[in-house]
Amino acid sequence: MKTKIFCDSADYETIKFFNNKSIVDGFTTNPSLMRISGAKNYKDYSFKILKICKKKPISFEVFADDQKQMLKQAYKISTWAKNVYVKIPVVNSKGKFMGPVIKELSTKGIKLNITAIYSFEQVERVFKCLDKKTKSIISIFAGRMADGGIDPLPIFKKSIALVKKNKNIEILWASTREAYNFIQAKQLGCNIITVPAKIINQVYNFGANTKELTLGTVKGFLNDSKKSKFKI
Ligand code: E4P
Repeated sequence: MKTKIFCDSADYETIKFFNNKSIVDGFTTNPSLMRISGAKNYKDYSFKILKICKKKPISFEVFADDQKQMLKQAYKISTWAKNVYVKIPVVNSKGKFMGPVIKELSTKGIKLNITAIYSFEQVERVFKCLDKKTKSIISIFAGRMADGGIDPLPIFKKSIALVKKNKNIEILWASTREAYNFIQAKQLGCNIITVPAKIINQVYNFGANTKELTLGTVKGFLNDSKKSKFKI
C-alpha cells in the first residue's frame, strides 16, 4: 500500500514548487501556517493558492469556534474548489466535540479533514459521525504527541484497523518531526503523511550510507573546530 506524501504548508512558493512534483500528492494548511505565510485575507490567499493547485487535494481549516459559525465557514470553503477538503477540529477551544458539525457536513458529501486528534477514542467518535460514502481524512498529530512523551504508534495501529474496510476514509500522520516518520507511517499502513517541505527533501534523498554519514559527521566537527581555532 502506498503512503501518500502531502506537503504541510501554506507558503505560496512551496505549494507552487511541489504542485508539479510527483513525490507530493496533496497539501494541508492550517490557520497558523496561513499566518506564517503572510496571509492577510484568508479567502483571497486561499484562492491565490487554488489558482496554482487545481487538482491535488488541499485542506483549508475553519477558524470559527462555535458550531453555527463553523458550519457557515465550512459550507463556504467547500465551494472554493473541487479539490478542497474542509478541515474541522475535533473539538472547539472549549473542548466541545464537533460531532454534529462533522455529521452534517459529511452527510452532505463535503470532503472533510478532521484535525487535532490525539486519542483513539476521538478517532472512534469521529468515525461514527462520518458518512462512509464521503471522502474524509482523520489527522492524528503524531509529533505533538511525541513531544509530550506519548507514543503515537498504538493510536495509529488501532485507527488504521478501525477504518480499514472504508476506502473513503484515510488516516493521516500529521505533525511530522523527522524524515524517519515517513518510514514509520509506511510500516503502519497509514494512507497519508503530511510533511514540511524541508523534510520532504530529506525523504526524496533517502538512501543514506552509514560510512558516508560517519565521514560527514567527523568532517563537520573538524571544520567547526578549525573555524573556531580551538586549541587545548
Ligand atoms: C496537519 O494537517 C497540521 O497542519 C500539521 O501537521 C501540524 O503540525 P505541527 O505540529 O508541526 O504544527
